[in-house]
Parts: sequence; C-alpha cells; structure tokens
Amino acid sequence: MIFRQLFDSATSTLSYLLGDTHSGEALLIDAVYEQHLRDAALIRELGLKLAYTLETHVHADHVTGAWLMKQALGSKIVVAEAARTSGADWELKAGDAVSLGDLRLEVRATPGHTDGCLTFVCEERDRAFTGDALLIRGAGRTDFQGGSPQRLYQSVREQIFSLDDSCLLYPGHDYAGRTVTTVWEEKTYNPRLNQEVREEDFVGYMNHLGLPHPKKMDEAVPANLQCGRPKSGQMQPFVPAWGPVVRTYAGVWQVEPEWVFAHRAQLTLIDVREEGEIAADPLGHVQGAEIVPLSKLRAALSGLSKAHPIVTLCPAGARSAMAAQLIEGSGIKEVANLRGGLLAWRDLGLPLLRNAQPRQ
Ligand code: FE2
Repeated sequence: MIFRQLFDSATSTLSYLLGDTHSGEALLIDAVYEQHLRDAALIRELGLKLAYTLETHVHADHVTGAWLMKQALGSKIVVAEAARTSGADWELKAGDAVSLGDLRLEVRATPGHTDGCLTFVCEERDRAFTGDALLIRGAGRTDFQGGSPQRLYQSVREQIFSLDDSCLLYPGHDYAGRTVTTVWEEKTYNPRLNQEVREEDFVGYMNHLGLPHPKKMDEAVPANLQCGRPKSGQMQPFVPAWGPVVRTYAGVWQVEPEWVFAHRAQLTLIDVREEGEIAADPLGHVQGAEIVPLSKLRAALSGLSKAHPIVTLCPAGARSAMAAQLIEGSGIKEVANLRGGLLAWRDLGLPLLRNAQPRQ
C-alpha cells in the first residue's frame, strides 16, 4: 500500500493519500481546498489514479478539496450519509467498505464531534483514520454541528478503543506537530479520554472548553455542505490559462519543451546561466532567449517584462526552477520552468544555436 500523510499548516489539517500498489488507484482522506495543486501533483508524480475523496466529517475550519479533485482528476466524492451534504457521489453508512484493489477501508460511525463523523479502519486493523473524533492526546470539540460529548465518549470507547492496542491512529488535525498515535497510547495518556476517565468527567471537561468558533467556520461549513464546490463566480483559477503548465509537488510550474518551441513567439524565454557560461556550454542556447543570470535575477525582478508569459531555462532545469519560483514570488503569475531544461530540449531534437551570442 502507498501511504502519505499531508499537512496544511494554515489550518493544522492532516490529509491522507492511500494507494493500491497493484491497481494504481488511490483515495484521499480529508483533502484541503487550498492544497489542491500540491495534492494533485503528488498523485500525478506517484503515477496514481485518484478514485475517491473521502471526508471524515463536515469540517468547520477548512474547505474540502473534494470538488476540485473531482473536476481535475475525475474522483468520486464520498461522504457520510449522516452529514447531509449535496453533491456527493457516494454516501456512506456504518458497516460500508471502500475498496480499491487490495486496499479496503471499513466505515465506522463515530459521531460526537459532529453528528456525521466517520472513522475509516484499514481491513488489517493496523491503522485507522479518526478525523476529529479522537485527536492525539485530545478529542474534537463537541459544541456545534450536532456535537455531543456523551456520543463522542461512546464513539471513542466502542468504535476506536475496541481496536487492538497496537493499531495506529491518524487524526484529522494536530496543532503541536504530532502525526500518529496508537490505541494503547490514547487509552493510557489521553488527558480527556484515557481509560480511567468516566463519561461524566469527559462531559464536564468538554462543556467547559470555552473555545471561540473557528475563524473560517462561516465560510467552511456552507462550502463543505456542497462538498467544496465554490459559489458561482468564486472559482479560484487553480490552473493558469496561458499554457499547459503543470504544478510539481516541489511547488514549481513546469511546461513541456515541445509546447515552448511551438509557442516561442508568444513567450519571453529567460536563460539563467551565468554570463560567460553560455558561450562555453556545448549545449548552446535557444534562439531569442534573454540572459538573466540567476545570480542577478533578484535585482532584475522589478524590470522583467510582463508582456508575455515567462519560461525560464538552464541546462537541467534546476537553477531555472529556482528562477521560476523567484519570479512567481515577485508577483508575476505567468511563469513556468522548462521541464528538463536544455538537455530535454536537445534530446527532443529541438534547435539550439552554437557559436553565436544570445541576446542580452
Ligand atoms: Fe472538525
């Protein structure tokens, strides 16, 4: 099984990518809207096909990336029937199972944080995804969205602590850099819910948390009831319109050499090799490319032309990737790195000039 834990630092949300090695299909638990490009890049780079997005519950602190993933990758949106959302492709009930090849998740109802919370348990019972029902040394709040400390206490006792002590537990959030725990650890050390804590102790604790509502609650809950579909007119332009650019998991926009060659008249090509390096480089250079050495790029950012989208290039695409990030960071959004650099350009048989000075 392929397993990746992903973190959104703005909301301290943990998302989980699970893939079946044999079929290449994957599912993503609790995707975050703003992390769509990162998560889609990882799925693409691992060669996976996203079959499902799963929600442990209707989140109050972030908007799900489920709808965006469906638009981009054709995944099906899977939520709890009890969450009463619209726009889902599959509504789960306790006892259902989500299967991808050899990967199979058992669905357990664990209400209490919200009235529609689910916990997903791997068939081998060696790991479970608890959403916000059970957090590491904590528990999800119970003061809105049909929350109930009594129900949460029962959910954790009956559905999570009934798993083997060694079962790994992966929560929906962590605010202190923790990533995983076990049933035994939480039975022993969870200050709210360890084995010695009685239901009335837990209820008293939870009823006096006194937390302010999440900052994004008024935006997140309505959006999540639509499975993350933005209101019309509020769609974020996650994919640039100027060309077939792809965001890498490293966080760089990339574009294919063949497309750059075919559209070079509508692009500004920037070669970031150092002065003197180009003339000595047996690779040669691309006709029409301007030279802005990486060492001088920061100082040159304010003078870069925005008339055309910018494509950065260098021999292997490494320095130019940094250049593309610097340019994007300066506020120029239409910029991408030449994938594979001049080596890929050469290997594709695209023309390179030698023994001639490029434009400065
Ligand atoms: Fe939550």
